[in-house]
Amino acid sequence: MIKDRLNEYAALVKKALEEYVSEQSPAPKLAQAMRYSLLAGGKCIRPALVLEFYRQLDENYEKALPLACAFEMIHAYSLIHDDMPIMDDDDMRRGKPSCHIAFGEQTALLAGDALQALAFETALKCDSLYHSPKNIIAAVSVLAEAAGMRGMAGGQMLDLENAGRSTDIEHLKLIHSLKTGAMITGAAKAGCLLAGATPEEAGAAEEYAEAIGLAYQIVDDILDVTADETELGKPLGSDLENGKQTYVTLLGIDGSRELVRKLSERAKAAASGFKYGQSLCELADYLAARGY
Ligand code: IPE
Ligand code: IPE
Ligand code: MG
Ligand code: MG
Ligand code: MG
Repeated sequence: MIKDRLNEYAALVKKALEEYVSEQSPAPKLAQAMRYSLLAGGKCIRPALVLEFYRQLDENYEKALPLACAFEMIHAYSLIHDDMPIMDDDDMRRGKPSCHIAFGEQTALLAGDALQALAFETALKCDSLYHSPKNIIAAVSVLAEAAGMRGMAGGQMLDLENAGRSTDIEHLKLIHSLKTGAMITGAAKAGCLLAGATPEEAGAAEEYAEAIGLAYQIVDDILDVTADETELGKPLGSDLENGKQTYVTLLGIDGSRELVRKLSERAKAAASGFKYGQSLCELADYLAARGY
């Protein structure tokens, strides 16, 4: 069952993260804030994708753990900054006070910065006994691109610029594909590239993950309206409050759910060539079901 597999991946990742983000730092408050946000009970979807796509080519997916943890570090940094008053201004994250509420804005800013640097330090711990330098470089390049101006950070910029304006569905698709899709697509692609994927395999991973990545943010938009706040662990109505157009404002809840369903079907079609394609199909369905 995919749920069991995700739990197994999350447990492995959390254990490894615990080791990578040491409490030992000349700046203990910074280390504390980094640990607070990184180990705070995220779903670990991006590292799971790294491990799952690595497994498609090599059963020993533990070998990809440093890369998987690096994706979660970039993600944690993106959420710390995303919640700050200069961005979405959200006080709760994963059922706890956001990093800037717990530690102050200055520390939150630096915790994000330091998590980004730690991500690259950690990704480069991928052991050259297991992986060729060529594969490590390919995977870490994908991580860098996914995080940066052609990926998550670029998407966050467009998302901010878009607050309070009207936007069409094509532009919203671009924002979502960058701010959320890029790290999800990057995780899948980097995972299989680390295992030595062919360009065709990397292309299929990209096709699969682009579809689930866009669907993931559409589901997040739906949950911003329909979820139970305690269960979601972050404030409801954040998008509306910040004047942001979402798939829900443009297509409605039913229209958004229908699109998530179509994207999942597209992902499943791209999964068919992989050794454990069935598991990828279950994952696509599982993520889509969060929107209901
Ligand atoms: C939240 O990401 C922000 C989005 C990109 C939608 P997740 O839903 O993966 O958050 P956690 O890490 O599980 O809390
Ligand atoms: C966040 O999108 C995307 C990131 C890159 C962090 P949202 O702003 O919708 O994410 P939540 O709802 O705060 O988790
Ligand atoms: Mg945001
Ligand atoms: Mg937000
Ligand atoms: Mg959201």
